[in-house]
Amino acid sequence: MPSTPAEQLAPLISADDLQARISELAREIALAFAAQTPVLVGLLKGSFMFMADLARALHRQGMAPTVDFMIVASYGAGTQTSGSVQLLSDIETEIRGRPVLLVDDILDSGHTLDFCLRRLRRDRPAQLRTCILLDKPARRVIACPTDHVGFTVPNEFIVGYGLDYQGRYRELPGLAVLNISADTPTGRIQTELTPRPGFLESAH
Ligand code: IMP
Ligand code: MG
Repeated sequence: MPSTPAEQLAPLISADDLQARISELAREIALAFAAQTPVLVGLLKGSFMFMADLARALHRQGMAPTVDFMIVASYGAGTQTSGSVQLLSDIETEIRGRPVLLVDDILDSGHTLDFCLRRLRRDRPAQLRTCILLDKPARRVIACPTDHVGFTVPNEFIVGYGLDYQGRYRELPGLAVLNISADTPTGRIQTELTPRPGFLESAH
């Protein structure tokens, strides 16, 4: 008899480790853009937390970036993307002749980043770099330039810190692997993984 699959979270990267790596990324980015002030373009919704922390980390490096967002949707069922990307909301900033940093949460097949890079290149920015919190190279279909990468991650479905599964788990301060148990003819398969104490609580 079919039953609702159970979802379990296995801790992957803690909130503290995220913040430490984001500070390093900000140092890298400050060096790459030298004295120039980039426009940060974040992809919603997944990058909202990363954008907020990255902007503050860049501030600590003495940078004063401007911030804009694109809303893109890639349609697909469950944890797979279909490859068809749609632009739901475009940037408002005039980026012609300006340095731009495209920021996203996770690079998976590459369809989303490729689509957004093509869109931004049309406006002829002076410089266009990418900053991706998580790179999942095992699933790449389209090659994409990754200038600044937070962490390379295994081929697992990851939630938390802005990343969702069906709209949930975005609020988690750290990252976790989502395991969905399945019923099989031989019985119920379930991975028993318990988050470390405190993992799901905010550091503040
Ligand atoms: P891509 O177009 O296949 O590279 O996928 C990019 C988008 O798919 C990301 O911006 C995420 O929104 C979503 N995505 C891909 N992998 C994951 C994951 O492991 N967890 C949550 N969202 C994901
Ligand atoms: Mg996304």
